[in-house]
Amino acid sequence: MTRFGQSKRTRFITLEGIEGVGKSTHLKFIADWLRAHGSKPLVTREPGGTRLADEIRRLLLTPRSQPVAPMAELLLMFAARASHIEQLVRPALISGRWVLCDRFTDASYAYQGGGRRLPQRQIAALEHMVTRGLKPDLTLLLDAPVPVGMTRVRRRGARDRFELERQAFFERVRRVYLRRARNEPRRVRIIRADVSLSAVREQILNVLQQCVLPWL
Ligand SMILES: Nc1ncnc2c1ncn2[C@@H]1O[C@H](COP(=O)(O)OP(=O)(O)OP(=O)(O)O)[C@@H](O)[C@H]1O
Ligand SMILES: [Mg+2]
Repeated sequence: MTRFGQSKRTRFITLEGIEGVGKSTHLKFIADWLRAHGSKPLVTREPGGTRLADEIRRLLLTPRSQPVAPMAELLLMFAARASHIEQLVRPALISGRWVLCDRFTDASYAYQGGGRRLPQRQIAALEHMVTRGLKPDLTLLLDAPVPVGMTRVRRRGARDRFELERQAFFERVRRVYLRRARNEPRRVRIIRADVSLSAVREQILNVLQQCVLPWL
């Protein structure tokens, strides 16, 4: 987003990937790297970021005995996103802060489109209404075979409503993420996440040095 009268733009960076690939772990590393380079990023996540969106997050993640209609899930995701964008993300970008976000609209295409099989055009229609053109400048897609992420998540203990899904669901999610990376290779960078933490960090550092450093 361009600030009036300034040549530097603030930037919007997102992390994506199935559960357990290391988004939250590496978000901290990226935030520290940005701080070390003189930026004070807003670090946030979806669904969430505002009080309303955090309440919607709880509604979405709580395991339930009655199945949730995919369209209800999609609309709740976008309701949370509307709140997050209008009250947190866009104001931060306008005020000159960088924004680093754990998941964004790509996740709706992957989970509700791929996972729940909702038509992409319905997601695109909501994206158009809710984001009004706000797209990440850079997305790091942490990618690993589904069982790798699942094993890591299971070690963590109690599972949320998504983590209770079967492997086939996450295979569909992963496929959509990879397809989006193929279709937008400049924006979406694939990071191999089935390697050691330091090896993942090294790949991320390469992308930061190559893509982000020139923006600072
Ligand atoms: N490359 C790695 N090697 C070994 N363990 C890892 C690696 N990356 C992450 N982990 C571990 O796997 C677990 C899940 O990582 P993390 O919470 O960062 O994933 P996530 O992508 O944020 O998951 P979720 O989608 O569920 O929020 C953590 O315990 C983390 O320490
Ligand atoms: Mg996480």
